[in-house]
Amino acid sequence: MASLKISGGNPLYGKLSVQGSKNAVLPMMAAALLLPGETQLAGCPRISDVEAMAEVLRACGAVVRWQDTVLCINASEVVPADIPAESTKRTRACVLLLGALLARCRRAVMARPGGCAIGERPIDLHLYALRKLGADITMLGEELLCCEAERLTGGEISFRFPSVGATQNAILAAVLAKGTTRIHNAAAEPEVVWLCRFLNRAGAGIAGGGTAHLEIEGGRPLHAVSFEVPPDRIVAGTYMAAVLSAGGEALLKRVCPEELSAVTKVLSAAGAVIRRTEEGLLVKKKGRLRAFDYLCTAPYPGFPTDMQSQLLALAVCADGTTVLEEKIFESRFHIVNEFNRMGADIYLDESCAIVNGVRVLQGGRVEARDLRGAAALVVGALAAEGTTIIDGAEYIYRGYEDVAGDLRRLGAALNEGE
Ligand code: UD1
Repeated sequence: MASLKISGGNPLYGKLSVQGSKNAVLPMMAAALLLPGETQLAGCPRISDVEAMAEVLRACGAVVRWQDTVLCINASEVVPADIPAESTKRTRACVLLLGALLARCRRAVMARPGGCAIGERPIDLHLYALRKLGADITMLGEELLCCEAERLTGGEISFRFPSVGATQNAILAAVLAKGTTRIHNAAAEPEVVWLCRFLNRAGAGIAGGGTAHLEIEGGRPLHAVSFEVPPDRIVAGTYMAAVLSAGGEALLKRVCPEELSAVTKVLSAAGAVIRRTEEGLLVKKKGRLRAFDYLCTAPYPGFPTDMQSQLLALAVCADGTTVLEEKIFESRFHIVNEFNRMGADIYLDESCAIVNGVRVLQGGRVEARDLRGAAALVVGALAAEGTTIIDGAEYIYRGYEDVAGDLRRLGAALNEGE
């Protein structure tokens, strides 16, 4: 088990360039299977989720290689290889290969992705959308889902909830379906918009990205492209939280401030100084933070569930009481026990964490069980008295390229261990 050792109390100063976005690049990797020729994804983050997805693409016949920070995917030959449970467990984004393989090969076979530490994570909306486009979905044995279609035809898809992944899967299948597909109550997350931009650059006809209604003119010829992976809004948000926990002042370069506005609004209201400059976003801690009062996660443009844990880490040492409600994933509160062991005062009431701010956390040995929980423990440990050892640090490498190096460059005392 990997661990991180952090000695708290060092303020952070300096500049940092934010890595490419995990949640934007994984759907682009799936989409590359639709594009004959070599697609190049520049500024792709070297994280374990990307490596896991690359391995599955290779199993499907694509040639995947790194050229410095550019991930090159040659999908001239694609075969619908069975995707086993080990792969779907390593990265849930594999589920996007259902839409991509179905579109390209008319067949996709995959172990049903299970729940994970943050909740049940069903895929009924993904399957509903693919069926609407003509897929026949059956089980092969107890574990494998088999999606097949002699041909895909555009259709009307109305989601009961704007799922990010299901919207992306529907787009991936619809771009090669015959005719027009309309998606109602689509997810409007930036990562959906980036997928639309990427596919449109490759020749697709997708309108309405960033709204609840998408219209896709299917069947256009597609070609490989070179594309710059956008900055990761959650990594940027995590580093903002790190500065606001440890104290200091840092400039985050390569950010999309609009994509972060729900987060910056909450942090500014709590007393943080956040300013847009020509180079990026300047974040500064000025005195103690005030509690966030009531904060609730919601689909974009609401407050992102992927930033909930990191704000919980700030709320534990803010002045006053914060009520944090998690409305997207039911099990994001594993870290509550870990923070309480460090001296926090948090109690859980169903989907709400009620956080009474304390003066300071005490270092100790804690364990992460999911990616954003691990990031939140880092944020908390930066301000704690003494040394904190975070076990389960491998979770953080799923989404953060070099968290230890980045924070050390800003002045944190942090070491990686096994
Ligand atoms: C994506 C992100 C994840 C982020 C989440 C919400 C990636 C790789 N992951 O996950 O980091 O936290 O969006 O912004 O991009 N649901 C169903 N049925 C389905 C699908 C989803 O009920 O078929 C439910 C989920 O259980 C959850 C909610 O919808 O309660 C949101 O899930 P969804 O938007 O699909 O998240 P992901 O695409 O899995």
